[in-house]
Amino acid sequence: MRLKRLKLRDFRNYERLDLEFPAGIIVLAGANGAGKSNLLEAIHYLSYLKSFRTNRDREVVRYSCPLALIEARLADDDERPFDARLVLKSGKRHVRLNGNDITRFQDFIGRLHSQFFFPGDLTLLTGDPTLRREVLDLELLRLKPVLLPVYQKFRNALKQRNSVLKLLYPQPGRRHNRPVDLLKALEAYTEQLIGAGVAIMRERRGITKVLNEQFVPLYARLAPPEGESVSLRYLSAVPLEPDDQLAANYRRLLSESQETEASLRFTTVGPHRDDLGFILDGERDLKRYGSQGQQRSAALTFRLALAALSRQRLSDDPLLLLDDALSEMDDERKQRLLAICRQHRQVFITSASQREVDLISPLATVVYTVEDGLLAPAGSGQ
Ligand SMILES: Nc1ncnc2c1ncn2[C@@H]1O[C@H](COP(=O)(O)OP(=O)(O)OP(=O)(O)O)[C@@H](O)[C@H]1O
Ligand SMILES: [Mg+2]
Repeated sequence: MRLKRLKLRDFRNYERLDLEFPAGIIVLAGANGAGKSNLLEAIHYLSYLKSFRTNRDREVVRYSCPLALIEARLADDDERPFDARLVLKSGKRHVRLNGNDITRFQDFIGRLHSQFFFPGDLTLLTGDPTLRREVLDLELLRLKPVLLPVYQKFRNALKQRNSVLKLLYPQPGRRHNRPVDLLKALEAYTEQLIGAGVAIMRERRGITKVLNEQFVPLYARLAPPEGESVSLRYLSAVPLEPDDQLAANYRRLLSESQETEASLRFTTVGPHRDDLGFILDGERDLKRYGSQGQQRSAALTFRLALAALSRQRLSDDPLLLLDDALSEMDDERKQRLLAICRQHRQVFITSASQREVDLISPLATVVYTVEDGLLAPAGSGQ
């Protein structure tokens, strides 16, 4: 994937931007508040139809302006060009692909495939497991869109089962006095939950394994030779091995959790409670024991591993959007990260530090200086 041209109108502090971008490493240098992250945010917006910083669409429209526009000419990895366009107006999104209006956003998301890293991405590691499940599921669905009905089936079974639990236990720990029909319904939804749940756990375990095959060597390339190792592990309360026992294990755990379910009145085991673990040196939880720099390295490597997997499986090398990715890394790691970046088709990387910019410049195709929402090639004196 490559971004060939970008046009912005009234997006954050960009009143007008019309610019062509080459392949390779593109550096956005500039002081705090210049608009470096804003530019990456715009590209990310077109990719995911949401910001990496806010849930409020209005925030990204330039102060006092009625609408914001992001328009891009892109080329996929076979050099087939396509145009994507997004207008944000009155809190609504209007999307076009090659001039055609798009009404179902799922037809659009992922067309401009990007992977990003920004300082807040550390919450991917340290935050709620929901975030990690979401990333895994998004990637699974990208690789295997046929799984969508399985997810729908699981969500539906879970919702219904939880409703039945609430009816069956009108108050925590106290069962309905005529529970027969409710128990039958519970049993039916339990079977549906197990059917779809087992499929999801299997797929997630599978994708964690292939992602880990990308992640481990990438992390090793980033860390010093004798440094720490980090790996990924799918974590579930349900014993995942042996595989042919998975459904039986899930059923057993559900039946063992009856008491908890009676007091909490919702389903407490299954893929909706699982997690993706980042494991330090084979045994410890990185989010508890890792240093800030190690955690940042791992969050970044995770995005790089997703990009590598996409390249391997879909022959699609996503745009890399790296916002302030080098800070807090020691000099060795910076160099190693840049070596990895060079192997990608197009990488946008921001920095507010002249020292960092000097480090990246020899490897970059172009360096832009950003100032007040304007970009000028560095050294052009503009
Ligand atoms: N909706 C908006 N309209 C106009 N300007 C905005 C809007 N939202 C944010 N800004 C401005 O954008 C600037 C922040 O830009 P950005 O986050 O891209 O900075 P940056 O170059 O990444 O800085 P840093 O190095 O600190 O990360 C702020 O000055 C802010 O006032
Ligand atoms: Mg920034």
